[in-house]
Amino acid sequence: MQKPTRIAPSILSADFAKLGEEVRAIDDAGADYIHVDVMDGHFVPNITIGPDVVKALRPHSKKIFDVHLMITPTGPYIEAFVDAGADIITAHIESGPHAHRTIQAIKAAGVKAGISLNPSTPESTIDYLYEELDLILVMSVNPGFGGQSFISSQLRKLEAIRKRIDSLGLDIDLQVDGGVNTVTAPQVVSAGADLLVAGSATFKGGPSKYAENIMALRG
Ligand code: DX5
Ligand code: ZN
Repeated sequence: MQKPTRIAPSILSADFAKLGEEVRAIDDAGADYIHVDVMDGHFVPNITIGPDVVKALRPHSKKIFDVHLMITPTGPYIEAFVDAGADIITAHIESGPHAHRTIQAIKAAGVKAGISLNPSTPESTIDYLYEELDLILVMSVNPGFGGQSFISSQLRKLEAIRKRIDSLGLDIDLQVDGGVNTVTAPQVVSAGADLLVAGSATFKGGPSKYAENIMALRG
């Protein structure tokens, strides 16, 4: 069942020179999850942060650390992110041939497991994973950078996945990431998403605006 809309600000759009402060600010402003984008310059054409940064940020918030891995391979790094304080680890279905094994490894490490789909990846690729999942992340931009435009074909994918989650009667967060703003947020929510990642739309205007920005996205 679709839950009330929750917002996961992506710290990719934060001021990297003061990340701890930024995490505290979005926590105070009402963020539900803290979304951490991990990129390796290989699976995606950008390099961001690793487990040491997650560990350094951990004391700054008690909220759920939602770690989105855009790396390949994923397996060798799961434990490091769990030790660093991740609460949910999401891997990409495209990051290797053994998604089921990756999900099992994430859960065996003691945290919640998510799977993410790039815009061109059909929802059928995750059909045999639903029972294992805590979160499904539909990318509504090509992963790699913040501030890109929402790809509207992903609304159909959200609808299909929402139907599947509900027909199986499972408790899975349906997350969407990329180009979520006050125009696209209502669209993704009506397509079935209940966990919205927002980078630029959260951080625009600086810390004094974060609460207002998050509230506007929640609708
Ligand atoms: C893109 C990342 C996103 C990104 C979203 O690869 O996974 O989390 O930061 O940024 P906005 O909300 O600006 O599109
Ligand atoms: Zn992300």
